[in-house]
Amino acid sequence: MIKEVTLLELVRPDLERVEAKMRGIASGAYAPLAAAFLQLLGSGGKRLRPALALAAYNLFEQPASEKAVAVAAAVEMLHNATLVHDDLIDNALVRRGITTLNAQWNKGATVLAGDYLFARAAGFAAETENVPVVQLFADTLRIIVEGELRQLFSSRQWDQPQEAYYPRIFAKTASLFASATKSGALLAGASEDEVQALYDYGKDLGMAFQIVDDILDYTGEESTLGKPVGGDLRQGIVTLPFFYFLQNSPDRQAVIRALENSNGAGDIGDIINQVRRSDAMRQAAAEAQDFASRARARLSVFPQSEYRQALEDLADFVVSRHV
Ligand code: IPE
Ligand code: IPE
Ligand code: MG
Ligand code: MG
Repeated sequence: MIKEVTLLELVRPDLERVEAKMRGIASGAYAPLAAAFLQLLGSGGKRLRPALALAAYNLFEQPASEKAVAVAAAVEMLHNATLVHDDLIDNALVRRGITTLNAQWNKGATVLAGDYLFARAAGFAAETENVPVVQLFADTLRIIVEGELRQLFSSRQWDQPQEAYYPRIFAKTASLFASATKSGALLAGASEDEVQALYDYGKDLGMAFQIVDDILDYTGEESTLGKPVGGDLRQGIVTLPFFYFLQNSPDRQAVIRALENSNGAGDIGDIINQVRRSDAMRQAAAEAQDFASRARARLSVFPQSEYRQALEDLADFVVSRHV
């Protein structure tokens, strides 16, 4: 957990309950799974999604109810499950500064471990005894899976339209941020408009978050991020910095040809460096900033409170982060 974020400070006592709840699953689990899961939880992670679920709930009521703690745990478990599968798909060997499961276990076992975490996440969601929340959870998982598949099948399509980027990052990332804030609001008994405002906040924040993740894949440091960088383009995943780079290129076709002909990591490395040094990075950052400002504005329907302020500040953190 990161120290300097007000929101995390504010929800810390409830977040501790979420941590205890998540750690609790290890006691009943098959020992190798339990060990792997405890290692993943213990190695860090910003816990932004459970903090968002709690803060959305806390806008209306404090402290968090057992059901709000359960939904926050469900959201973080779902996130962890997607990371286990994502690292297998991306063949990433380090996450949160430690060796990934796919670096230690074979593919089949890693898939099953991810499935196990999904199952436990669904169990936490069911503890809310709230059918709309459980439905939202199921919808979100479906959307994430479709997004990851869409990304896989569009890999190395260097000339794809920029418009395809936004639904893709909504699916893989912003949908979960939005369902975190929405489910917190639903459990707090918020009105339809309030639920919608928090959903929209989570969505815009999640869009900003993924754009920044995509920027950090070009400019970040593995030592601070705890995960490898520079992998997106190498894997054929085109993200916002690349779209702007291509747009600004005097000879777009030449760039595409170079990528099509690239076989070794070296060739792509050269283009990655060009993107990194280009104005595209600033353009992508400005767009992340726009999403963050929109997220902040969504909160104007709520009375001023320390929770609203912390959610506003989180939008600033998301665009200025290096972790
Ligand atoms: C990583 O999410 C996956 C993305 C959606 C980019 P985080 O950066 O929130 O990962 P942790 O939980 O802090 O490790
Ligand atoms: C996150 O996207 C996708 C998930 C839903 C897990 P990335 O593939 O960009 O995440 P990192 O960069 O590996 O954390
Ligand atoms: Mg990845
Ligand atoms: Mg990434």
